[in-house]
Amino acid sequence: MRQLKRPLHRAGRLGRRGAAAIALLALSGCGGSPAGNGLSQAAALGAQIFQDRSLSASGAQACSTCHNPNNAHAQVNNLAVQLGGQNLDQHGLRAPPSLRYAGFTPAAAFDAGGNPVGGFDRDGRAASLAEQAQGPLLASFEMANASVADLVGRLSRADYADQFKQTFGAAVFDSPELAFSGLQYALQQYQIEAQEFHPYDSKYDLYLAGRVPLSDAEMHGLALFNDPGKGNCAACHPSTGDANGAAPLFTNFRYGNLGIPRNPAIPANAAVGYFDLGVCGPLRTDLSTRPTLCGSFKVPTLRNVATRKVFFHNGAFGDLTQAVTFLVRRDTDPTLWYPVDGNGTALKFNDLPLTIQANVDTVTPPFNRQAGMAPALSSDEINDLVAFLGTLSDGYTPQSSP
Ligand code: HEC
Ligand code: HEC
Repeated sequence: MRQLKRPLHRAGRLGRRGAAAIALLALSGCGGSPAGNGLSQAAALGAQIFQDRSLSASGAQACSTCHNPNNAHAQVNNLAVQLGGQNLDQHGLRAPPSLRYAGFTPAAAFDAGGNPVGGFDRDGRAASLAEQAQGPLLASFEMANASVADLVGRLSRADYADQFKQTFGAAVFDSPELAFSGLQYALQQYQIEAQEFHPYDSKYDLYLAGRVPLSDAEMHGLALFNDPGKGNCAACHPSTGDANGAAPLFTNFRYGNLGIPRNPAIPANAAVGYFDLGVCGPLRTDLSTRPTLCGSFKVPTLRNVATRKVFFHNGAFGDLTQAVTFLVRRDTDPTLWYPVDGNGTALKFNDLPLTIQANVDTVTPPFNRQAGMAPALSSDEINDLVAFLGTLSDGYTPQSSP
């Protein structure tokens, strides 16, 4: 297995099905042997599954459609939500996150105060990467397999079906449940093992390694990012690694409610009473009785943020500078972001029911301002901050000095 720069124990643990697959692997005695590229056999299978469109009801959609390897494993179009289903005409509910560095997400858990930490999807409802894969494969608005049996039927006809049997046992297709857990395990191992998901080759990584300098604007942006009295971004998006010297991931894997404006481009939002409340529902169901958590979404990594086509869980912004300006001037200039009533008052936090609006973070800088106050950052400072965010994109090639 490829040596990761962060300890493997931080990666999402296996769900029950994944554990069954592991037991099976141990029986067959071959799941751990390398298959080239430093990938285990299961991970090498995962690489094929990830881009296999024949595993969708439409025959046109794979994981890589929404998580394109050429764009940091995220979407390549500008849509707020993607289209899926048998006829590719069903709208999703959220913007796909980048899958880069997601394998380091801790398994879903609760801190001492009972607040959720870690877990997969924007609401953390999937405990592990293996469990997460079930979502897109079966969701009616994504790959839309009608059932596990339907999916396993497709899998058994794939080019790599023999390889799948070699890895998970000759009889694996006799049990759809077993084949499904093998598939989930393969997708998980691919995302954990393959270096393409965590190359650590951004300009900022090279800067941390002492190999390249940052420009003056980038250095100034980094200082603003870290300064608790200015951007305070590092409070939730840490820019330094952990005590063991592991590289920073720019997320604390916690949940926050930033009061992002409602996005009319999401068809589900045409229903006046529909609200995406993140951690407390509708997709996550175990915390629906915890109203103070309603409206919270996972803090995303800011690695590769400059390559994103849309921002925040509902894709309400299509431009990074605008997204950062929203964060900095949300409260000082609310009429820039929210609809305005007959008296010229901004209807702040309009993507949350009135009773839930009090959950929005109005305490942590830079969200602790009032209308008319000076924003935490000037527009020149925002430009430098955005220049710094540009150093977090993977695949930086140092320019050779003249
Ligand atoms: C139609 C677009 C689409 C397809 C196809 C798709 N995804 Fe996603 N993916 C999404 C969206 C949207 C989310 C966010 C879901 C949510 O928060 O409820 C997501 C979230 C994820 C996450 C969570 C990442 C994190 O940081 O928590 C993982 C992992 C993931 N997808 C892997 C996959 C895999 C593996 C496949 C193929 C089996 C796949 N996706 C297929 C759109 C898609
Ligand atoms: C209190 C914690 C907190 C602070 C402080 C914070 N963020 Fe975030 N950030 C979040 C959360 C939570 C989200 C996801 C919100 C959502 O999608 O609803 C987010 C999302 C983002 C996004 C969207 C990324 C994407 O993939 O769509 C950007 C960009 C961002 N933050 C940049 C910043 C910058 C720059 C700062 C400092 C000026 C900052 N954040 C300060 C918690 C925080």
